[in-house]
Amino acid sequence: MADVALRGVTKIYDASRTATRAVDGVSLDVADGEFLALVGPSGCGKSTLLRLVAGLDTVSAGEVRIGGVVVNDVPPGARDVAMVFQSYALYPQMTVFENLAFALRVRGVRGEALRARVHAAAETMALTPLLDRRPAALSGGERQRVAVGRALVRDPAVFLFDEPLSNLDAALRVQVRRELAALHQRTRGTTLYVTHDQVEAMTLADRIAVIAGGRVQQVATPAELYARPANLFVATFIGSPAMNVLRGADAEAIGAPAGVDVGVRAEDLTLDGAAALRGRVEGVEYLGHEQLVHVRVGAASLVVRHAASAAPQVGEPVGVRIARAAWHCFDAATGARVDVPA
Ligand SMILES: Nc1ncnc2c1ncn2[C@@H]1O[C@H](COP(=O)(O)OP(=O)(O)O)[C@@H](O)[C@H]1O
Ligand SMILES: [Mg+2]
Repeated sequence: MADVALRGVTKIYDASRTATRAVDGVSLDVADGEFLALVGPSGCGKSTLLRLVAGLDTVSAGEVRIGGVVVNDVPPGARDVAMVFQSYALYPQMTVFENLAFALRVRGVRGEALRARVHAAAETMALTPLLDRRPAALSGGERQRVAVGRALVRDPAVFLFDEPLSNLDAALRVQVRRELAALHQRTRGTTLYVTHDQVEAMTLADRIAVIAGGRVQQVATPAELYARPANLFVATFIGSPAMNVLRGADAEAIGAPAGVDVGVRAEDLTLDGAAALRGRVEGVEYLGHEQLVHVRVGAASLVVRHAASAAPQVGEPVGVRIARAAWHCFDAATGARVDVPA
């Protein structure tokens, strides 16, 4: 396998002079064997960045290195990367075996060498009993396994995934996600994995790069991102329900200095009749193992994680306790994380 290094990578689409900076000065390192997820909202430049690594698009500025070699001018076929797309087009007239074999045949692999590699990939993706079927006779999850198997069979230096699970229903998505995690545990292939789904990123990745507006907001392990988000965007993007944010007068009401927004996660809030911060219940979401209680406090609507039993009623007045140690403070003007001594 190989590492990937991006240095100041920029892509400007210059249609009709309204230039879009789809990717804006991205520098990132993916270590040999690492699984790095690129996560961010729709349109933030994730697919463009992946296409630049694959060579399907050319950079406007910056450098793409794979295994220490600058590949800016290397065509996609010679970059030794394998890409799995959201809409994985399998060849419908070919069997699973032939779908897996296709990329190898194109590269001149024949005979026993071809069969051995196809069978190894099929074994890894649990496709051996399905090798004679055509895609029409496969379930969605099985088709997606074939799509991953086609990348695997090539034994590339780098795997690139672009939202590979988003066409699957919820149950299948969880199943294939676990299969991908197990696959990476076994193969340790260098992987760049694009998703807009933070749960996918959190559960699969060694590290996550959060992208917004074509720029990297933060690169960190899932635990670091959750515990110390670098700015308000990351704070509210990572975590479900989204982090609560108290601004302006609401932040000052809990003792924050002027010009500081305070973020607090739902699990760090408790309903407490004796708490000084007063509000009214706006809604209750019952989730079985817990309930999410939405409380209107000043201009803010706070989400409180609550035990499954004994939630207050909508319209009830309540007190909300916020542990000072649970504050995440952000500069109200820039959104950057700031340390405010207690
Ligand atoms: N071929 C293109 N021409 C012009 N603009 C494009 C092209 N491809 C993508 N864009 C724009 O670049 C931005 C990033 O797109 P994309 O990388 O597809 O986002 P994501 O994958 O994060 O949803 C968007 O504003 C999109 O409209
Ligand atoms: Mg995309």
